[in-house]
Amino acid sequence: MNSDIEEILFSAEQIKARVLEMGREISKDYADKDLLLVTVLRGAIIFLADLSRSLSIQASIDFMVVTRYGYRDQPEEVKILKDLDAPIEGRHVLIVEDIIDNGETLHYITKTLKLRNPASLKICTLFDKPYRRTVPIKPDYNGFVCPDRFVVGYGLDFKQRYRNFPFLAVLKREVCPI
Ligand code: IMP
Ligand code: MG
Repeated sequence: MNSDIEEILFSAEQIKARVLEMGREISKDYADKDLLLVTVLRGAIIFLADLSRSLSIQASIDFMVVTRYGYRDQPEEVKILKDLDAPIEGRHVLIVEDIIDNGETLHYITKTLKLRNPASLKICTLFDKPYRRTVPIKPDYNGFVCPDRFVVGYGLDFKQRYRNFPFLAVLKREVCPI
């Protein structure tokens, strides 16, 4: 095991099994629909790659890049750096996220995408920290409730590192003091 890791919270096997279950559920729910998976770069790409291949129905894929910045004493703002390539009007959109923390990112994205009149708009996240919300955002599909720790792996980073780990882990305090 990598020496920066303190503890593995969810193993590669646990994640794989859960992603397969989620894929089965989504395939059933969207059986007769034209599904568009919308992913927010970069963290969710690993989940998207595995989830999309666990579907038994066909799906399209599109990407967005957003950034969050906050000024002292002011609420954080979210800005779109790269928008979706194609219109979503009339499409069944499922947002694929790695983890929901305070929910501000998804709050902004869902608000923006709703204005484009999709046929439906739902949220699928692999990890959730529901007790950290500052805005009312609830995933329609959730893989695991995540303990209140800063986590890395399976797409999630600390300073852009550790995204490639196949499991979800907590880093040692001397590596990641968050
Ligand atoms: P939110 O707007 O606070 O919900 O932010 C969600 C985004 O913050 C996720 O898509 C991740 O990119 C990042 N994030 C939240 N919690 C963690 C964590 O524990 N580790 C790594 N990234 C995280
Ligand atoms: Mg992210």
